[in-house]
Amino acid sequence: MRHEATVQMAATQEAKFGQKDTSDQNFDYMFKLLIIGNSSVGKTSFLFRYADDSFTSAFVSTVGIDFKVKTVFKNEKRIKLQIWDTAGQERYRTITTAYYRGAMGFILMYDITNEESFNAVQDWSTQIKTYSWDNAQVILVGNKCDMEDERVVSAERGRQLADQLGFEFFETSAKDNINVKQTFERLVDIICDKMSESLETDPNVNAGKQNTRLTDNPTPLQQPNCGC
Ligand code: GTP
Ligand code: MG
Repeated sequence: MRHEATVQMAATQEAKFGQKDTSDQNFDYMFKLLIIGNSSVGKTSFLFRYADDSFTSAFVSTVGIDFKVKTVFKNEKRIKLQIWDTAGQERYRTITTAYYRGAMGFILMYDITNEESFNAVQDWSTQIKTYSWDNAQVILVGNKCDMEDERVVSAERGRQLADQLGFEFFETSAKDNINVKQTFERLVDIICDKMSESLETDPNVNAGKQNTRLTDNPTPLQQPNCGC
């Protein structure tokens, strides 16, 4: 029953987004991004800090999936970010992995004060490989870096794991607003780099084709190049 309610909620959100999407065509590109990681690492807080510049110390665990939209500018292009905040709890896994398809970027988050969340990174990485597009870009994020006294995962271990998995790495704090904007900006940069690279190596893979699949939005079809 609870499960059905969650699926329904997600479907409603998608329908709602579809409407918003078609009514606002005022962008050059749309990137679908996902934030994943264990429960309580700070995914929702991270998104609220980025999108609304707000933070609360209350913990309200996410049910299913939610999203926010934020528009950024890069080289005079308007890029609309559709950012999906997933529930970390295991019982929502079937629902959340269904949203991996078509994502161009992932923020894979652990909590520097929680060893278990760091140990789970490998499994989350496998989930990305299993359910997402091959070229999806990933940034590993060690959140809650304001809690230095309770740190159990060193920055060095985080960086090493990121290197091993081929991901970029940031330590962040949603609470103190450290590296939040930078993480999203870097993710947008590496997605743009990847798009340009794909165009150079395989002209048949044009940005329009990718974006059609990734965002179901026809606008990028008119763009011969990423240009961002
Ligand atoms: P699920 O929705 O269950 O997957 O959890 P989540 O990853 O979305 O965690 P959430 O953002 O709800 O944060 C969990 C708790 O950690 C909350 O009490 C937040 O206030 C706190 N928190 C999040 N980010 C930070 C941070 O950077 N520093 C500190 N000190 N606390 C944080
Ligand atoms: Mg949450």
